[in-house]
Amino acid sequence: MNIKKTMQNFLILLLIATSNIVAAQTGKVYSVKANELKADIQPTMYGVFFEDINMGADGGIYAELIKNRSFEFTMPLMGWSIKRKQFVEGEVQVLNRKDVNTNNPRYIQVTITNAVKGSLSLTNEGFKGMGIKKGLRYDFSVLYRLKSPGVKLHLELVNSKGEVIGEGALTPETTGTDWKKLSTSFTSTATELKAKFVIWFEGNGIIDLDMISLFPSDTWMNRPGGFRADMVQMLADMKPGFIRFPGGCIVEGRDLNNRYQWKKTIGPIEERQLIINRWNTEFAHRPSPDYFQTFGLGFFEYFQLAEDIGASPLPILNCGMACQFNTAEFVEIDELGPYVQDALDLIEFANGDVSTKWGKVRADMGHPKPFNLKMMGVGNENWGPQYVERLKIFTKAIKDKYPDFKLVYSSGTDPNGDRFDDLNRELRKMNADIIDEHYYRRPEWFTSNVTRYDNYPRNASKIFAGEYAAQSVKTASPDNKNNLLTALSEAAFMTGLERNADVVSMASYAPLFANVDGWQWTPDLIWVDNLKIYGTPNYYVQKLYSLYKGTNVVPFLSDNQNVTGQDGDFGTASIDKKTNEVIVKFVNTSGKLQEVSFVIEGVKKLDTKGTLTELTGEKPDQVNSIDEPVTVSPKDRQVDVKSKTIKISIKPFSFNVLRVKML
Ligand code: AHR
Repeated sequence: MNIKKTMQNFLILLLIATSNIVAAQTGKVYSVKANELKADIQPTMYGVFFEDINMGADGGIYAELIKNRSFEFTMPLMGWSIKRKQFVEGEVQVLNRKDVNTNNPRYIQVTITNAVKGSLSLTNEGFKGMGIKKGLRYDFSVLYRLKSPGVKLHLELVNSKGEVIGEGALTPETTGTDWKKLSTSFTSTATELKAKFVIWFEGNGIIDLDMISLFPSDTWMNRPGGFRADMVQMLADMKPGFIRFPGGCIVEGRDLNNRYQWKKTIGPIEERQLIINRWNTEFAHRPSPDYFQTFGLGFFEYFQLAEDIGASPLPILNCGMACQFNTAEFVEIDELGPYVQDALDLIEFANGDVSTKWGKVRADMGHPKPFNLKMMGVGNENWGPQYVERLKIFTKAIKDKYPDFKLVYSSGTDPNGDRFDDLNRELRKMNADIIDEHYYRRPEWFTSNVTRYDNYPRNASKIFAGEYAAQSVKTASPDNKNNLLTALSEAAFMTGLERNADVVSMASYAPLFANVDGWQWTPDLIWVDNLKIYGTPNYYVQKLYSLYKGTNVVPFLSDNQNVTGQDGDFGTASIDKKTNEVIVKFVNTSGKLQEVSFVIEGVKKLDTKGTLTELTGEKPDQVNSIDEPVTVSPKDRQVDVKSKTIKISIKPFSFNVLRVKML
C-alpha cells in the first residue's frame, strides 16, 4: 500500500516536473555565458558624429540668433531688411575694409537724420525665425564706430503678429575711429517660435555697425555666446564615448578653398572668417542659400564640449583633397606641407604645454589644461591611390612626432565594391590603427550584415563605423524617415558591432542634428525647431547602447549559435565589471510576440529582480515628432529572476535591454 502510494506520489512529481520542463521550453531559450569574458568593450565604443549640416551649428547648437551678423554672406544684407519712411540714397551702406581686416571686411554705415520711431529700422529674420522664451534674458552686443554723437538704438523682439515681446535701448557715446563694443540685456515678455529682431534709430548721426549679436542667456553652462543647452543635454544624456568633428564632407569642402581649416575657427569671434557651408548648394531640391559657417562653434569650443560631456575628441582633418563627388581638387604633393602642419599644430593646440606656440593660444582662450587628444582622422570619404599617397606623408609626420597617437583612415564612401577593397588592402598594408567605414543603406542591409565583422582579421586594424544610418527609402532620399523599423535594423546591426568589440572600437550614427525647417539630409538622429527638440527612435537605440555597453562581451547563444537573425531575432550580451551587471540586448524585428527565457550561466548568484528597458511602438513606420516627441521611447519595467532565468514576453518590433545584478 505504502509502496503504491509512494509510486503514485513519484508519478505525480514526475508529471509536475515534466510539465515544468515543457513550460520552460515553450518559447525560445537563450543562454548567456557570463563567466566567459570575450573582448573588452572600449569606453569610446559609442560616440556621436557632429557635422554642420541641416543647421547643426549655425541656427542650431550655436545659439546666436542673428543671421549674417557681420554682413559677410555673399549678399551682404541677406537676412536683413531695411524699413524707412522716406528713401534716402546711401542711408544704409555696406562698406568694405578688406585691406585692414581681411577676415571680417564688411560692416554697415547708417546715416540717421532727425529719426523717430518709424523713420528707419533694420530687421533681422533669424535662422528660420528666432525661438524666444517668456521671462528669459537676452544679451545683445554690437561693435560700433560713431562718427558724430546723437544716435539712439532701440532694440525690439517682435512676434509673428508684429507685437513687441522684448525691448532695450543703447546710446553709443564714444566717437572716434576705433571699434567699440556695446552690450545690453533685456527680458522677453512672451514665448515665440519665429520672432524677428528690430533695431530702430532715433536722433541724428552716422554710425558704423558690425557683429550685431543676440544670444539667449540660458546657454549650456550659461556660457556667454555659447550653445543651445537642450541640444547639448541630448548629447550629454547619451554619455557618448567620443565626438567626431567637424564631419563629414564639410572637412573636404566642395573645393580646397572651401575646406575646413581649424586655425580659422579659433580666437576672437569677430576674427573668425566665415565660409559658405558646402550644404548651401549641395542639393538642388533643398536650396539653402543662406547657409554659412561662422565658426562660433570652432575647434576650441569643440574640445570644450567634448570635455564637458566626458567624450574623447576625434577631429577629422582635410588630407589635401576636396570632395571627390564635387571638384575632386587635390593639392599638389609638393604643397601638402601646410596641411600636414595643420595636423601637427592641432595636436599641439589640444595637448601642448602653455610654453608651446599653440598650447599658449589654447591657454589664452581660457583653457591652460590640455584637452588630452589621442586620435585624429586624416581624410573623410577619400579614396584612390592619391589618397594613400597623401596619407603616407601625414602618417610619417604625425607618428614621427607622436608615436602613440592613433590615426583614423578613410575607407571611402561605401562598405563594399572595388574601391573599398583596393583601399582596404592598402590601408591594412600600412598597418592602419583604425579604419573608418561608412554605410548609408536600406534597413535590410543592416539586418543581413550583422555578421559582417565576424570574419574580419583579429589583432589587426580596428574598425570605426564612423557614419551609418538605415535609409527607409534610399541613400540621401528626402523621403527617408527616422522610423521604428530603421531604428530596429540599426539595433540589430549593432549587436554585430558589439559582439565583435575586439575588432570594432568605435561607432557613430550620422548625421546628428537637423532643423525641421531647414534640413538638407534625412534621416538624422535628433531634430529641433527653434524652441523644441526630440530624439528619434534611432536616437534611443544609440543612447541605450551607449549607456549600457558594459565592459566585456560574453557569449549570447541559442542552440550554441550566435543570435544573428534566426526568426528575426538578434542579440548580444555583456557584463559590466563596474556595476556588476549582466546586460542582454535583444532585438525582435518580427511582428510576433515572443516568449523567451534568458538563462544566465556561470554566475554564483543573481538579484531576484532585473530591469528590462523596452523600445517599441505600434507599427514599424512609427516616428517621433516635435509635437509627439516620445511616442517611441524607452520604458523600464522590473522582471523576475528565478533560478538564474528570466522569462519575458518580448514585444513585436522591439529593442530590449535587460540588466541584472550579479551578487
Ligand atoms: O552624413 C552626411 C554625409 O554623408 C557626410 O558629410 C559624408 O561624409 C557622407 O557622405
